[in-house]
Amino acid sequence: MCGIVGYVGPNLANPVLVEGLRRLEYRGYDSAGIAVMNGNGLETRKAAGKISRLEEELAASPISGNTGIAHTRWATHGAPTQCNAHPHVDCKGHIAVVHNGIIENSSVLRKQLEANGHKFVSETDTETLAHLIEEAFEGSLEDAVIDALQEVEGTYGIAVISSDDPDKIVAARKGSPLLLGIGDNEFYVASDASAILAHTRDVIYLDDGDIAVLDRKGYHVLDERSRRLSRKVSRIDWDLDQIERGGFDHFMLKEIFEQGASIENTMRGRLLDGEGTSKLGGINLSDEELLQFDNVVITACGTSWHSALIGEHMLEEMARIPVEVEYASEFRYRNPIITDRTLCIVISQSGETADTLAAMREAKNRGAFTYGIVNVVGSSIARESDGGIYVHAGPEIGVASTKAFTCQVIALLLFTLKLARLRNLSVVRGREIIEAMRALPAQIRKILDSAPRIEDLAEEFKDSTNFLYLGRGYNFPTALEGALKLKEISYIHAEGYPAAEMKHGPIALIDAEMPVVFITPHDSVFDKVVSNVQEVKARGARVIAITTGEEPALAGKIDYEIRIPPTIEMLIPVLAVVPLQLLAYYIAVKRGANVDQPRNLAKSVTVE
Ligand code: AGP
Ligand code: GLU
Repeated sequence: MCGIVGYVGPNLANPVLVEGLRRLEYRGYDSAGIAVMNGNGLETRKAAGKISRLEEELAASPISGNTGIAHTRWATHGAPTQCNAHPHVDCKGHIAVVHNGIIENSSVLRKQLEANGHKFVSETDTETLAHLIEEAFEGSLEDAVIDALQEVEGTYGIAVISSDDPDKIVAARKGSPLLLGIGDNEFYVASDASAILAHTRDVIYLDDGDIAVLDRKGYHVLDERSRRLSRKVSRIDWDLDQIERGGFDHFMLKEIFEQGASIENTMRGRLLDGEGTSKLGGINLSDEELLQFDNVVITACGTSWHSALIGEHMLEEMARIPVEVEYASEFRYRNPIITDRTLCIVISQSGETADTLAAMREAKNRGAFTYGIVNVVGSSIARESDGGIYVHAGPEIGVASTKAFTCQVIALLLFTLKLARLRNLSVVRGREIIEAMRALPAQIRKILDSAPRIEDLAEEFKDSTNFLYLGRGYNFPTALEGALKLKEISYIHAEGYPAAEMKHGPIALIDAEMPVVFITPHDSVFDKVVSNVQEVKARGARVIAITTGEEPALAGKIDYEIRIPPTIEMLIPVLAVVPLQLLAYYIAVKRGANVDQPRNLAKSVTVE
């Protein structure tokens, strides 16, 4: 998920690698490391924290060589410590690996490798790769990598060097970006062109399944059966600034577009399709213990609080357990009823939000079991909770949370599938849900294709001063999230409301100046919501409706329609929120607002 850079050529690798890491800094990371090869074999240096920490490490204990690999890590397995930083090496210290992505079957592989006598030093999934390659090594590094990768399930972009097959880098990709840089008798590998742009603009974007071999004389690309492939050299004509955002104008837009892939990462290795349930490693409770809870309290702030509301619906509907959702900032000051039979779910992208952390500590003090749903590995909430699930959304840089939200909803559903199976959920229903989950990434990509239309809509509404977002059931939280996105980045006042509750007050605000965004999927409350649309239309509002298909019942009652693909009711928020994120984004851009760093806000709110 984070950054890779590698160099082979006549010059010293270190400066190229360190500079490359610096170029990758914008992506957000938690630790970094470097390995180079010279006459004395392989040498590695690593540090937790900033690249400057790694530079201090290198200054204190210099290494040099002409072939090397480097990494910025965004932890998915194991805390962001020096030991868990990449590169990881095999038992003999002859092979070094950097890796982006997740090795899904790493715990099984690790057990097998340990049984064969391999000694692991880190908690990462990546280290299994170093030992697997060591097992397969018979003289040719590329052959060993190809062999080792046969055993691996999951996603990877990797770069590998070995002192037993020196002056060579082997790189491979599956589901995690990787490119080769072609210089004058020197060659590069990188996860992101920004890392090598200072040296070359000629690159080869690797495809999934490609294995690339780079040495001082040249490069070639192989398939999984060692057959040579031809790959086109492309010329990069973007500047650095554009590359950092993956060609998108802002991180927020990039992160909105990443959502198909990020929810795939949340689900990766956790769905049991046949059994219609999920498999979650970090619960730290037996099935019997999970069944002991009388109630669930979910606590969070902001966007994470909105996903909590969706979790409440899911858990109550499927696991039939009472659930309460609390703003973390309110929870701790109101003497909540928590016992040792309460499960307290704590949701946070950053894992550092002060209010949420304090609420979790309060729940712990009162005897609750705390379960963290967190994006940032090794963050305070992740460390202090009794059990938990990482959402694996990848680094979220834009202050407005987007991909973390959709991943949180998926993580909540994974947990619900587990608990509900122990309580009520049938295999048949579980399978239906999983089938719908598996369809989501492609459905999200389809919605993203309609971005230009949403941009046109933003032009139409960019000068509005108020917005109302209405939805019911699972989509009341979607309405809240749509409104929050708009207000935090465009500074337009926006409110989310339950669609039917609107007539008890906010309806007084409605006139021709008030755009109303309705979330009207064809679900169990569709007919009711149509009546609410009518009430609003009768008062002259301009209505934008998010629908899941042709709706004769809405004909003549709405001004603009954004269609999303149909899915099961509980998953509609995951799809419906995407056009709302885009609408907020384009309106903010058109108003000239600083989308990635809106005024007065911080990515992680670490004060009360
Ligand atoms: C979302 O767009 C916000 N910027 C904010 O509400 C955020 O969700 C909230 O501060 C909670 O952050 P956390 O998920 O990192 O705990
Ligand atoms: N899964 C690996 C780890 O936790 C790689 C993470 C990354 O992509 O940075 O170390």
